[in-house]
Amino acid sequence: MVKEYYAQSVKYEWKRLVQDAYHKLEFDTTMLFLKKYLPRKGLILDAGGGPGRYTIELAKRGYDIILLDLVKENLEFAEKQIKKAKAKNKVKGIVQGDIRNLSKFKDNTFDAVLCLGGPLSHIKGNKQREKAISELIRVAKPEAPIFISVFGKFGCLSLAPAGWPKEIEMRPHFKRFVKTGNDYLWRGKYYAHYFTPDELEKIFSKRDFKLIQLVGLEGLATPHKKAINKLAKNKKAWKNWLEMHYKLCTHPIFLRSFHLATNYLIIGKFYISYEL
Ligand SMILES: C[S@@+](CC[C@H](N)C(=O)[O-])C[C@H]1O[C@@H](n2cnc3c(N)ncnc32)[C@H](O)[C@@H]1O
Repeated sequence: MVKEYYAQSVKYEWKRLVQDAYHKLEFDTTMLFLKKYLPRKGLILDAGGGPGRYTIELAKRGYDIILLDLVKENLEFAEKQIKKAKAKNKVKGIVQGDIRNLSKFKDNTFDAVLCLGGPLSHIKGNKQREKAISELIRVAKPEAPIFISVFGKFGCLSLAPAGWPKEIEMRPHFKRFVKTGNDYLWRGKYYAHYFTPDELEKIFSKRDFKLIQLVGLEGLATPHKKAINKLAKNKKAWKNWLEMHYKLCTHPIFLRSFHLATNYLIIGKFYISYEL
């Protein structure tokens, strides 16, 4: 289902992050933290990179990058966009693959690993998600930053009244979503798991992964899609809003107790623990 959905929505995915101010919050906030934590240069894996929005942006900024995705249609489209952007010499590979099995790559290969926009949310079952996390960590060099963004359960629930009233109407489905974070019917298209911040921290705490930062990519804007797109037309107000957003999107109280983020970004470093 996941493969089918993304094979049919390549153009939408290409535009998704830049279609309006609300969606740009995800992209711009992610870029802010990439700029903050990426090393100055090196080889990056963009895993589940879709049609290549981040690959191209980072290639333009001088990084060497390998784009990996499950869906061949995404990769074919990405290849054309990479050519158009004259970024071909920095893109060292365009590879079809699954984040649960990165055996194409040796241990400790990458200076940074990205898995952005929810590929991990499309993996069914905790065991399989853990397998994917282990793979993303395995291919990262020690101390390499790893950036993973996933769908957030509370954020999704907070925008559901405006966005998905039909889904709320479907009682068994809605109850299951609230209890487990699992969704087979969102837009009727694919399986996705929506995380709580606690769950995210727990699944990562089992590994050699030092949590650096948890970010709510849409923050306080989460349930206000329409109002945010309107506000963004008012330049002065938008500048002030963004300034506030970048300050508060990592605030621990918001992340824990409220409904802020349809997308969480978790940033950590893979480290080797030595036993003395
Ligand atoms: C919402 S898109 C995000 C694309 C891109 N990272 C971005 O942020 O624009 C999710 C992507 O995850 C990919 N994906 C889903 N499951 C995957 C898996 N098991 N392995 C690799 N990619 C996967 C999909 O093909 C799709 O391109």
